[in-house]
Amino acid sequence: MSTEEELPPSKLGTKEYWDKVYEREVGVFQDTGDEGEVWFGERAMVKMRDWVYANCPPVQQGKRIRVMECGCGNATLLLSLLTPPANDDDEEDDIDQSASFNRFYPNQLTGIDYSEASIKLAQGVAQQRRDKWRRKVEKAKKADENGENKGDQQLDDARGVKEHQDELSEDDDEDYDSDDDSLSPASLELNDPLLTTSPLFITGDLLTFRNIRDLYSALPESDTWESNADIDEPWDLVLDKGTFDALALSQDTIPVPITDANGEEKVVQRLPSAVYPEKVAQLDSNISE
Ligand SMILES: C[S@@+](CC[C@H](N)C(=O)[O-])C[C@H]1O[C@@H](n2cnc3c(N)ncnc32)[C@H](O)[C@@H]1O
Repeated sequence: MSTEEELPPSKLGTKEYWDKVYEREVGVFQDTGDEGEVWFGERAMVKMRDWVYANCPPVQQGKRIRVMECGCGNATLLLSLLTPPANDDDEEDDIDQSASFNRFYPNQLTGIDYSEASIKLAQGVAQQRRDKWRRKVEKAKKADENGENKGDQQLDDARGVKEHQDELSEDDDEDYDSDDDSLSPASLELNDPLLTTSPLFITGDLLTFRNIRDLYSALPESDTWESNADIDEPWDLVLDKGTFDALALSQDTIPVPITDANGEEKVVQRLPSAVYPEKVAQLDSNISE
């Protein structure tokens, strides 16, 4: 059996396909604010988010938690990490506060995708969520200050997510609407991570980058000051939802330089499905060639 098994080729394995998808979705987003398709459905996204919170170990206090999503698309998975699951407060109680550890709470998010339009969409979605959240918090606080009591109600409504999330395991995807505050953070504050975390979105090909600096070099000047500080640090978590699946459907081989058993350097052609895991592993060793 070959170690590099081939799947039947599909348009989902081509950049042209994804460019078209996201160019269309950017158009719809600009017209209507619709965030676009969530691959495998909202339920899969929420399951992954919940898995992260349930399984990632507590980290040293003050440490930044760096999360990267490979092939981030519209970034809905990445952004969902800014909203802990409804029962997460209980989890926090389990952490020994004297041990100077904090629970895992991602506060530096990076998304990479080779489709420029997807990066544009991801940036738009992140901004739109921030704006919506800020308006909601400000409105609720104003109502509260005016003694309208509605403030509390609005805050509670926004927090009402919790019930939704508990029900989610029984719900069908169709019944789940991310716009109904179901992904709202537990604490409705202006210093909420949803407002204070600025995700970094990078256009880059995960099959062909030479090293992490290659990827970061695609960032605009305004973003590089922030990223340069962390460029050599490993990621705490690297996520993939649907990206490996998509690129495994491509049979456009990638030229990969290797040194053979005789110490000679040569270039071999390899399938994306074989190259990708190695490239993802390389993300962690950052500056190595
Ligand atoms: C099925 S979509 C999933 C998008 C997103 N992760 C989600 O769950 O909504 C696959 C994504 O992988 C991206 N992608 C495919 N091959 C890639 C590559 N070689 N480098 C970077 N991104 C890639 C596509 O542009 C697309 O956004």
